[in-house]
Amino acid sequence: MILVTGGAGFIGANFVLDWLAQSDEPVLNLDKLTYAGNLENLSPLASDPRHVFVQGDIGDSALVAGLLAQYQPRAVLNFAAESHVDRSIHGPEDFIQTNVVGTMRLLQAVRAYWQALDEVPRTAFRFLHVSTDEVYGSLAPEDAAFTEVNKLEPNSPYSASKAASDHLVRAWHHTYGLPVLTTNCSNNYGPLHFPEKLIPLLIVNALAGKPLPVYGDGLQVRDWLYVKDHCSAIRRVLESGQVGELYNVGGWNEKPNIEIVHTVCSLLDELRPKADGTAYQTQITHVQDRPGHDRRYAIDASKIERELGWRPSETFESGIRKTVQWYLDNPDWVAHVQSGAYREWVQTQYAGQPAPAPAAVYP
Ligand code: NAD
Ligand code: DAU
Repeated sequence: MILVTGGAGFIGANFVLDWLAQSDEPVLNLDKLTYAGNLENLSPLASDPRHVFVQGDIGDSALVAGLLAQYQPRAVLNFAAESHVDRSIHGPEDFIQTNVVGTMRLLQAVRAYWQALDEVPRTAFRFLHVSTDEVYGSLAPEDAAFTEVNKLEPNSPYSASKAASDHLVRAWHHTYGLPVLTTNCSNNYGPLHFPEKLIPLLIVNALAGKPLPVYGDGLQVRDWLYVKDHCSAIRRVLESGQVGELYNVGGWNEKPNIEIVHTVCSLLDELRPKADGTAYQTQITHVQDRPGHDRRYAIDASKIERELGWRPSETFESGIRKTVQWYLDNPDWVAHVQSGAYREWVQTQYAGQPAPAPAAVYP
C-alpha cells in the first residue's frame, strides 16, 4: 500500500481518486482535515476497502510511526501542507508548523521506519514530496522558465515554508540516504479546488453575482496545469523517477491572470448565461494587489518529458471547460465548502475593497 498525506485536499483527493481508479493498491490517507480538507471529496470511496482514512497531523510523530508500523507502506507521498499564499501573509505560523516542522517530523518517522525495513522493501521504498514552482521566486518577462537547477528564491511566507521543506527532503536524502523524489509543479486547477484560489473563486463569485477580484493590474503570469495531469506526473515520478532528483511539472500554459478571468467569464456566458443578458465580465473588479506579489512563474517541464516520457494531456482550453462545467454540475459541493469559516476568510481578505468597477478592457 501507499501512504498519502493531505489526501482530503484538492490535489491529494484527486490523486487518491485517480490512483484507485487505475490500481487496486490500497491507499492509507492521513489528513488533519483543516479548513481545506474535505471528506466529501472522497465520498466515492466511502465504502471502498482499498481506502483507509485517518484524521491526524503529519507532525504527530507517534501517530505516524504507529501507522507506518501497522500498514507497512512501500511509499509515502507528502501532499499535506498549508497551501494558500494570501493566508500565509495574514498568518504565517501554521505554514511553518505544518510545512516545515510537520515535514521534518514526517521525515524523521519515515526514516526510522525505512531504516528498519528488510533489504528488498528498503531498496524499493520511496518518499515523494509534492512541492511547487513558487520556491524558485519570480521571473522577469524576458527570463527563461524555471528549470530544476534554478536557485530557490521564495518570496512569500508560503513559498519560504515550501522551500524549507524541499531543503529538508534534500538533506534527509543527502545525510541519511532516504530515497526521496521531489516534484515542483505550477498552478493546478480542476474539480474539488477550494474557492479561495483564483479559478474556483471566480466561478463561485460570478454565479453569485459578486465582484471578480483581480489583484493589481492582473498582468501577473502563472503556468496552469489541469489537476489530473499533475496526478499522472506524480504517478510517473513515483514509478520511474531517479532517487534524489527534482522534477518540474507544468502545463506549458503561461497566461496573465486577466486572461484567465476573461476565459472563465466567456465560458460562463456560454454555459450559464445571466438572466439579465449582461456579460459576467461586468463583475470584474480590480482590487489592491497582494503584498510581495510574484510577477511571473514559468515552468520548463522538459526534464520529466525527456527522462520519464510525461507530458500533460489536457490543453488549457479543454481543462478549463471541464472545470467550469464541474462547478456548474456540483452546486452542493460548492454550498457545503462555503461554511462559516469560508465566509470569515472572504471577509478578512476582501473587506473594504472597492465596489465593482466597469470591466477592464482586455486585451
Ligand atoms: P489544499 O490546501 O487543498 O490541501 C491540503 C491538505 O492537507 C488538506 O486536506 C489539509 O487538511 C491537509 N493538511 C494540512 N495540514 C496538515 C497536517 N499538518 N497534517 C496532515 N494533513 C494536513 O492543497 P493542494 O492545493 O491540494 O496542495 C497539495 C500540495 O501540493 C501542497 O503541498 C502544495 O504546496 C502543493 N502544490 C499545490 C499546487 C496548487 O496549485 N494547488 C501547485 C503545486 C504544488
Ligand atoms: O504556483 C503553484 C502555486 O499556485 C501553489 O504552490 C499554491 O499552493 C497555489 O495556491 C497557487 O498559488 P498562487 O498564489 O499562484 O494561486 P492563487 O489562486 O492564490 O492566485 C493565482 C493568481 O491570481 C495570483 O497571481 C494571484 C491572483 N489572484 C488570486 C486571488 C485569490 C487574484 O488576482 N485575485 C484573487 O482573488
